Amino acid sequence: MKVTVVGAGAVGASCAEYIAIKDFASEVVLLDIKEGFAEGKAMDLMQTASLNGFDTKITGVTNDYSKTAGSDICVITSGIPRKPGMTREELIGINAGIVKSVSSSLIEQSPNTIIIVVSNPMDTMTYLVHKTTNLPKNRIIGMGGALDSARFKYRLAEALEAPISDVDGMVIGGHSDKGMVPLTAHATRNSVKVSEFLSADRLDQVKEDTKVGGATLTKLLGTSAWYAPGAAVSGLVQAIACDQKKMFPCSTLLEGEYGLNDLCIGVPVILGRNGIEEIVTIKLSDAEEAHLKESAEGVQKTNGLLEL
Ligand SMILES: NC(=O)c1ccc[n+]([C@@H]2O[C@H](COP(=O)([O-])OP(=O)(O)OC[C@H]3O[C@@H](n4cnc5c(N)ncnc54)[C@H](O)[C@@H]3O)[C@@H](O)[C@H]2O)c1
Repeated sequence: MKVTVVGAGAVGASCAEYIAIKDFASEVVLLDIKEGFAEGKAMDLMQTASLNGFDTKITGVTNDYSKTAGSDICVITSGIPRKPGMTREELIGINAGIVKSVSSSLIEQSPNTIIIVVSNPMDTMTYLVHKTTNLPKNRIIGMGGALDSARFKYRLAEALEAPISDVDGMVIGGHSDKGMVPLTAHATRNSVKVSEFLSADRLDQVKEDTKVGGATLTKLLGTSAWYAPGAAVSGLVQAIACDQKKMFPCSTLLEGEYGLNDLCIGVPVILGRNGIEEIVTIKLSDAEEAHLKESAEGVQKTNGLLEL
């Protein structure tokens, strides 16, 4: 199992590290445009192998796509991250050009690959890959919901004063502060609805804290976060590589599901060796459905900024 990660920055390197530590891939290639940067990150990570006990071989390359040939899965994290006060949508100008050229170079070397898009604005970048490549829709996956759901579970556990392993919940919709739809009505603590333990006001607070989860960290760190994004990507990569048939909310091209068409947005999907093996349709409350529709309108608006 060969995995390429484009962008050896904060998220790319963290993602490569988690993939290596979980030790399910034979090889991870890190590629960056900055001379020597990916080589340095790969060497540093390889020097953790004997300490962390993994055999995954990590190599770094400067913009040499021939080294990515035959990748089963490619992750795109290249592009600029937001600074405090910026929205993800503001990154579109620079990142669209990067994602378009990177995806085409990757597919040239690995025509059968599955692409996971991380660069922001992620839903629109995922749509861009659909529009500019001829990969089938099951092989183009946007990562956002897995991270937003992890942040939702963190906030739920905090409110419940419970261990995170007791909590389950999911965030669908667009990967943006306004667009995220945390499914509070479906969230549970050990199969009991969280609404049995938390007031409506407290649950609203959890929802709001989740939606600004990325912005909160960007303000603290001065740039966007990397540990949880890297871990979330590695979870998707593992589900595909190990054919786990796990359910994650991922950005995928919708063709009528949830009443939505011709956009990529986060909904629950089953991930296995073929990438997105199924889009799962769940029953939403009227409020959740209205929020998802509004979120889709926001994503469509950003998609409208693409020069296709
Ligand atoms: N989808 C999500 O949930 C999520 C979460 C966190 C960050 N992000 C996004 O991921 C992206 C990366 O964030 P980061 O914090 O790692 O940024 P970073 O600046 O640390 O790393 C980005 C890397 O991309 C490289 N790069 C730029 N252009 C390239 C090109 N054409 N080819 C190869 N490499 C290139 C840069 O040299 C840099 O090393 C940003 O767009 C950020 O907004 C998404």
